[in-house]
Amino acid sequence: MNSTEIRTIEDAHLAKFYARKPVTIVRGTGALVFDAEGNEFVDCAGGYGTCIVGHAHPVVAEAIAQQAHRLISCHGSTYNDTRATLLSKLASILPTGFDQVFLSNSGTEAVECAIKLARKSTGRRKIVAVKGGFHGKTHGALSATWESKYRKSFEPLVPGFEHIPFGNVEAAKAVISNETAAVLIEPIQGESGIRVPPPDWLTSLRDLTHDVGALIIADEIQSGFGRTGRMFACNHFKINPDILCLGKGIASGLPIGVTAASEKIMSSMTVGEHTSTFGGNPVVCAAATATIKVFLEEHLMENAANVGAYFKDQLLAMQRELRIVREVRGLGLMLGVEMRFDVTQFFRTPSRMAYSCWTLEEMS
Ligand SMILES: Cc1ncc(COP(=O)(O)O)c(C=O)c1O
Repeated sequence: MNSTEIRTIEDAHLAKFYARKPVTIVRGTGALVFDAEGNEFVDCAGGYGTCIVGHAHPVVAEAIAQQAHRLISCHGSTYNDTRATLLSKLASILPTGFDQVFLSNSGTEAVECAIKLARKSTGRRKIVAVKGGFHGKTHGALSATWESKYRKSFEPLVPGFEHIPFGNVEAAKAVISNETAAVLIEPIQGESGIRVPPPDWLTSLRDLTHDVGALIIADEIQSGFGRTGRMFACNHFKINPDILCLGKGIASGLPIGVTAASEKIMSSMTVGEHTSTFGGNPVVCAAATATIKVFLEEHLMENAANVGAYFKDQLLAMQRELRIVREVRGLGLMLGVEMRFDVTQFFRTPSRMAYSCWTLEEMS
């Protein structure tokens, strides 16, 4: 099929839920993707944040192929060697105390599990989320997501959610109470335009939640796995959350969500209360183990710190020289540049860089 034929079929039969770009991708390698006619594009968004070791990395592709020939499906109600291997690998990189994980299929599902865990383990109902935050679009996660354009047509959402302003300690003090189950944060906000919190905000939230017996859920679906130059963005702020949500690139683009917590928090949920048909699927687990191996062996976290620092310096120099750059924000390679004009037009025009450059509106 050529690109026109592919687009005709997709336009006819795929629900029109995405803002689409006039590009048809059929192949990828490293940072490059190609259309059906062989035109080459630079994937500036790394497969929407999923290709942390590049498109079709040979080690990952081989692991997927080998596992697919051996066993494709294995429900969580039975044991599996490939899943066990991933669990050991995850245990070796998660912060101390995160003894157990729930494996699901997306970021929003990782957040759903975290919300249920917070409610079940504390016996409380209230979840405090943050203005500007993005946590996904299923009903529970959507109740924590801030943007009204995602929320308003689907109300009433899940009750018990309240939003506090980003970075404001006094506002947090006024809302967090002994009825709060958890405060749900992105340590660095992604969707709202790469916002790094003021220095003491997260430590204050940690203290406030400790005081009232509430939990902190860190949604590191965008900021985790080395993107900021540390394994998790929380490491920069020296806070230990109680529940960690991960997703995006862990399995190089195969669907995965990870909710990690202590054994004590995890065991508050009883058998059958939270399961998933595909969660912990062996092919996805094989891809994730291979991705983590490549990620560590190729020192990609250190690379994000070094290249990110260089990139930020250059962008800041540009900001000093060019009036069109309003602000440069972020850590490591989780960087955002706010321009003084609307950039959308550049991402709509086919060009070598047209594919997947994120605009704020499209990032989710
Ligand atoms: C911080 C954050 N949380 C949750 C999600 C939802 O993840 P998914 O699209 O895999 O459901 C996203 C997606 O962009 C995200 O950036």
